[in-house]
Amino acid sequence: MKKIILFALLIISKYCFAQSALQLSGIHIVPVPVSVKIEQGNFILRPDTKIIYSTQELKDVSGLFATMLNKPTGFNLRAMGGKERTISGGIILNIYRKPDTLLGDEGYGLKVLSEKIIISANKPNGIFYGMQSLMQLFPSQIESDTVVRHISWKAACVNITDYPRFKWRGMMVDDSRHFFGMKAIEQFINEMAKYKYNVFHWHLTDDQGWRIQIKGLPKLTETGAWRVPRTGRWGTFEAPQPGEKETYGGYYTQEDIREIVQYAKERFITVLPEIDVPAHCLALIASYPNLSSTRKQYSVWPQYPPDSIDNVLDVANDSTWIALDTIFSQVAKLFPSRYIHVGGDEANRSFWMKDPGDLALMKKEGLTTPAELQSFFEKKLEKLIIAKGKKMIGWDEILEGGLAPEATVMSWRGEQGGIKASQMGHHVIMAPYGSTYLSQIQGNPLAEPPGPGMITLQKCYETNILPEGVDPTFILGGEACLWTEHIPDYRHLEYMAYPRAMALAEVFWSQEDKHNWNSFLIRMQDQLPYLQEAQIKYATSMYDPVISAIKGSDDSMKVVLEAQIPGLDIYYRFDGTDPDNFSPEYTGKPLDIPEGASEIKVITYRCGKPIGKQVNCPLSWLRRRMKKWKKAG
Ligand code: ACM
Repeated sequence: MKKIILFALLIISKYCFAQSALQLSGIHIVPVPVSVKIEQGNFILRPDTKIIYSTQELKDVSGLFATMLNKPTGFNLRAMGGKERTISGGIILNIYRKPDTLLGDEGYGLKVLSEKIIISANKPNGIFYGMQSLMQLFPSQIESDTVVRHISWKAACVNITDYPRFKWRGMMVDDSRHFFGMKAIEQFINEMAKYKYNVFHWHLTDDQGWRIQIKGLPKLTETGAWRVPRTGRWGTFEAPQPGEKETYGGYYTQEDIREIVQYAKERFITVLPEIDVPAHCLALIASYPNLSSTRKQYSVWPQYPPDSIDNVLDVANDSTWIALDTIFSQVAKLFPSRYIHVGGDEANRSFWMKDPGDLALMKKEGLTTPAELQSFFEKKLEKLIIAKGKKMIGWDEILEGGLAPEATVMSWRGEQGGIKASQMGHHVIMAPYGSTYLSQIQGNPLAEPPGPGMITLQKCYETNILPEGVDPTFILGGEACLWTEHIPDYRHLEYMAYPRAMALAEVFWSQEDKHNWNSFLIRMQDQLPYLQEAQIKYATSMYDPVISAIKGSDDSMKVVLEAQIPGLDIYYRFDGTDPDNFSPEYTGKPLDIPEGASEIKVITYRCGKPIGKQVNCPLSWLRRRMKKWKKAG
């Protein structure tokens, strides 16, 4: 309790009165580094600052850094090759001749002195991450897209050593449910890089659209990339009507894909393509109806298709394997990633059980369950993927019926799949839906746009990549997943990603002993001005009031008000008027409902200023939820 009070005081003092030592020193790096030593003084970036790189392999990354600095400063800095010893000042990017084993491939040392900055690493990757940390030491305007004048481009003197906890730090974007396009995907990748993510998992195919050009299968992009347009709330959409035009969608040409892969590579991000099979294949099947067991002509669907629609590939059909070979040959060539993600999730296997060909295949192979037939599919697919020189990743359903010999498992239905796969000696990426699915809403449902579930910022921060029972030697890392059923455009994608992606970045990158929610909260809030400068749309849901109900001893409903983060004041009214800081303040004691009230309106303040959204909560809404919890409990 004492700790909580102390932290609330720190937050209040930081945001209301004096600036804290932390803020004064400007050290608010997310994800938090392994070690930070604050020194006296500042480095000031000037129009004549030199950027010197030690070896040719740093030429591109140094050039990118100069561009990043030139945009907001209006300077004309240029990166040059040279020796550290030959210059007296500037920013020096230096690859160790003799590798520093502690830093590994991605770690770095960042020394900011008043006359120069030195970033050292074993590999260009480390230099790039050192640059990202350095960007966070400059004022937030360093993220501006346009020139900012009359500012001192100061960075506090520090000595930082840093390296990641996990080598797989991914974010997934579902580009099928809604098509985002080149500019958005590049922007997303650029934003990922700031927080040291290194895998962009690109969900390119699903029931609502096929997004990648495959030569020899033209209908995938003529038919599969398009669906009927629907606006409004996912789940309420009308089915495609006879003769209706399919005008909503799009796809990436192979040239586009190469551009994205290159863009990501320059930011030390690997693009992991996902072609989701054997289910979630309606866009593929609508293009080539002979590939499903039912062989029917279906439409690409604007939301989840009904169970009567067969969106699953026919395992026993040779045409399926010819199409898969064509697709994966080209995918393997387009993406330099060692891995290809083949989906494998949520297959409605019932169609196979009605298909004479699939039943005959099961008999021939001695398979007794539909799960075993899927396992047969995955094992055959793995051989195909390995023959293309790649390794296969699948969602954790691929464990059912027997795991393909070399497959890597992405554990999404909780952690059990990952625990089991690791115990079997398979590599695992943790993406449990309960804390890494950023497609879930992040605060009070009355104040959020529609979406499933609820994952608060703190829940993300508490993600445990190494749960009990797991064999840690097989855990590659984790992923944040953005499924886009409820995310129709890029601005909303950003809103769902930030600031929660910062919390997960810290889970994936920072060492376990550095994880500290209170410290993260301060640093995360210091990052928000950087997001503003970069014009990233982030959520402020952590400031919104959380409203719930409990049953009092007399069986009456009582209202409980909370905030997701400490240090906020909560004000409320039951009389229909809008609350402010002159309204009753919530003290922590559950509220009795006054006679005649039908609604509670709540708002949060910090330092005498509104900070969260005002939430108007009908008491009938609370009553319904209380009943549901009671039933569930
Ligand atoms: C999934 O969320 N269906 C992998």
